[in-house]
Amino acid sequence: MNAESRDRLRVTVARSFDHVVMAMTLRGVTYLGEQRAPYNEEYDGNDLVAASHLIAWRGSEPVGVLRLRWFADFAKVERAAVLPTFRRHGVMRALMQEALRYSARRGYRQVLGHAQLNRVAYWRSHGFRVRPGRPSFMFSDYEYVEIEHPLERPANAITMDSDPLAIIRPDGDWDRPGPFDRSLRRAPRKQRRPEELA
Ligand SMILES: CC(C)(COP(=O)(O)OP(=O)(O)OC[C@H]1O[C@@H](n2cnc3c(N)ncnc32)[C@H](O)[C@@H]1OP(=O)(O)O)[C@@H](O)C(=O)NCCC(=O)NCCS
Repeated sequence: MNAESRDRLRVTVARSFDHVVMAMTLRGVTYLGEQRAPYNEEYDGNDLVAASHLIAWRGSEPVGVLRLRWFADFAKVERAAVLPTFRRHGVMRALMQEALRYSARRGYRQVLGHAQLNRVAYWRSHGFRVRPGRPSFMFSDYEYVEIEHPLERPANAITMDSDPLAIIRPDGDWDRPGPFDRSLRRAPRKQRRPEELA
């Protein structure tokens, strides 16, 4: 591996069991190990339902993670963690930029976050604002405020009218042919058309 690819920062969506385990491991190191969070608060039942995990890679090494949860009309960013050795090099910035881009591409118009009071200035630098008229609240020993980030829906946002083959590609990788595009190389099986079944 040359120096450029060793240092290159990229962000991917966890789409396999080993990548989900990787995301959980990085969170374990940060939150259980470093911040001494209780296990059942960190692994809160929201990792496998309507959630995506983004992984930041420095070359071939996973160095940071962020969880996105998908609600009907907003996405929520949470569980941001970067390994101590790789902090203050913009890993989180890359993760958040990808989280915002990915959410917008999925058609979301807003992203919600819960920010610890002492991190609000940092999240402002990512384009978030504190939600007006909403009180602060407590959990896991800290006080939080709600923060939000509006999104511009891109022209190629995924909708019901998107190319049906694009919709069934690996999530987030909608612009490259996926396994079902490649399935078209096989000869189609004989089928009766709906009008013949009536
Ligand atoms: C919070 C956290 C995710 C930030 O990750 P990161 O990759 O270090 O984030 P960034 O590099 O984008 O920026 C972090 C800080 O480094 C600064 N920074 C970024 N690049 C820098 C550089 N090249 N030189 C100097 N400082 C830099 C940023 O301005 C920011 O400063 P601040 O903390 O004083 O506001 C990481 O510190 C972490 O995992 N902490 C433990 C878990 C946690 O608290 N998570 C957040 C709660 S959900």
